[in-house]
Amino acid sequence: MTLSAENVTWLAKGKPIIDGVSLHVNEGEILGLVGPNGSGKSTLIRMLAGLRDPAAGQVLLNGTPMARMKRRTIAQTMAVVEQHADTSDAITVRDAVKLGRTPWLSPLEPWSERDDEIVDDALDAVKMAHKSGQSWRTLSGGERQRVHIARALAQQPQILLLDEPTNHLDIHNQIAILALIQRLRRTTVVALHDLNQALGCDRVAVLDQGKLVDIGPPDEVVTTERLSETFAVSASFLTDPSDGTRIIRFH
Ligand SMILES: Nc1ncnc2c1ncn2[C@@H]1O[C@H](COP(=O)(O)OP(=O)(O)OP(=O)(O)O)[C@@H](O)[C@H]1O
Ligand SMILES: [Mg+2]
Repeated sequence: MTLSAENVTWLAKGKPIIDGVSLHVNEGEILGLVGPNGSGKSTLIRMLAGLRDPAAGQVLLNGTPMARMKRRTIAQTMAVVEQHADTSDAITVRDAVKLGRTPWLSPLEPWSERDDEIVDDALDAVKMAHKSGQSWRTLSGGERQRVHIARALAQQPQILLLDEPTNHLDIHNQIAILALIQRLRRTTVVALHDLNQALGCDRVAVLDQGKLVDIGPPDEVVTTERLSETFAVSASFLTDPSDGTRIIRFH
């Protein structure tokens, strides 16, 4: 399943927040989305998820314009974890994850043991099974984030959109979630602030003031020039002697 944006634009009070962005994510590819605060990452993810309608341009799933697809089909295809996701109801962790099964249920296909297994697996994947009976409201920030990711996993999407999924997570859980994303190998767009983490994506897209200023392999896109121009930082690249990977050191 591929995901494309064709010249999408989103306006706030007539001002472009996303300005003519086109990109294509291949089947099973992990695209890292980076850019300074306010550059439009969350806005673009919301448009790709169908939560915000573009003022111009269109989003396509496997070549089909999303605007022509049924809500239910989109929800069976794509899951999104938003940056400021919330669940206001006083529900348990398990119930929050069960919500991910909603697009798959119907009068003809009611809740089954298989759905319970999928929910169990999703809770295990983010290491939250031991808290499944706890009220969602009482969770810590990082635990909430992991439950949101579990809800997205329970949806069994072919396309995964994640807006800063490692936000609030301790370093162990950051690495665990990034490894999980790599293992799942869905068609993925993941907004990240940690540029060293972005280096681990298949390709990186850079947003700057609503415009896509570069997209390509991390080594070609994340350069000292780009860091200086878009992020206003000077940086050097080091090599990890243990495995030869590139590391960014910021000055
Ligand atoms: N509904 C809105 N009305 C007015 N401005 C908006 C609206 N939604 C977003 N914006 C503005 O659009 C810009 C992009 O916001 P967005 O949340 O997409 O940025 P971001 O790249 O995700 O930033 P961050 O790294 O801080 O999460 C911001 O300047 C924001 O203030
Ligand atoms: Mg954001």
